[in-house]
Amino acid sequence: MRRHFLRDDDVTPAEQAEILDLAARLKADRFAASPLAGPKTVALIFDKPTLRTQTSFTVGVAELQGAPFLVDGTKAQIGTRESVPDVARIIGRQVAAIVWRTYAQSDLETMAEYAGVPVVNALTDDFHPCQILADLLTIAEHKGRLAGLTMTYVGDGANNMAHSYLLGGATAGMHVRIATPAAYQPDAGILADAARIAETTGGSVEVLTDTTAAAAGADVILTDTWVSMGQEDEKSARVEAFAGYTVDAALMAQAAPEAIFLHCLPAYRGYEVTSEVLDGPQSVVWDEAENRLHAQKAVLAWLLEKNKEGSDA
Ligand code: NVA
Repeated sequence: MRRHFLRDDDVTPAEQAEILDLAARLKADRFAASPLAGPKTVALIFDKPTLRTQTSFTVGVAELQGAPFLVDGTKAQIGTRESVPDVARIIGRQVAAIVWRTYAQSDLETMAEYAGVPVVNALTDDFHPCQILADLLTIAEHKGRLAGLTMTYVGDGANNMAHSYLLGGATAGMHVRIATPAAYQPDAGILADAARIAETTGGSVEVLTDTTAAAAGADVILTDTWVSMGQEDEKSARVEAFAGYTVDAALMAQAAPEAIFLHCLPAYRGYEVTSEVLDGPQSVVWDEAENRLHAQKAVLAWLLEKNKEGSDA
């Protein structure tokens, strides 16, 4: 069966560790792998704004000796001008892999069904699994391990980052705590999936409304914007709903003394995080942003290898 990376639990705990290990090796030796040499092309399609993802995938594909092919989603109009299955078959017949940032997870799944090549989730409304791999790489670099650590996410519990932290953190054997208002709880199905994974890895998942309790003794504190791409019309209601969910120095003081702070960026200083924390000594956000490159190169290299193995079988 063809392998894709559409959500964090598309890989087993052992496979996640394998990808993170490959990412660390590619960080130490950036040109150690060239699975796209030939050259092969990777389509990068963006239906939503992007900076880090476009940069890191473009550089990453080039460093894997392939050619990145950037598709402007606003021009391609996938799903409106042409159906997702049609686009999948047109692009899929010409490239080695497809990386897509879009809205509906179901559209990404349809792309994977029809593309005939591996498809990678570069963010949907529901998940952002590449970001979580970069975060896990960053945490492992700073803490020396993942399993057994407590990772607390403060903010919108119903967004893509919260969902991916639940699944990806549980896969890594971490204790994942989500602090979010009652009206922004994670999707119940995703939470149940994460709890099931945590049972097998020794991790745990917990959703709280109290930020202080959630941050208590945590090894890692993370947050994300309160207003995700596509939710711009809800900005004022969200700013009101998330009052009290800012990661500030007082909240960081509840965490373990050596706790680190991560944010997928872009950050809105004064809303989900204060400048003092974002720009402070516990923040590792620039390592995190760089690690998108290494993590995504590893995902692409790993997927291409896995699919080669699959076709040989
Ligand atoms: N939750 C954010 C993540 C940005 C990387 C969004 O979807 O806009």
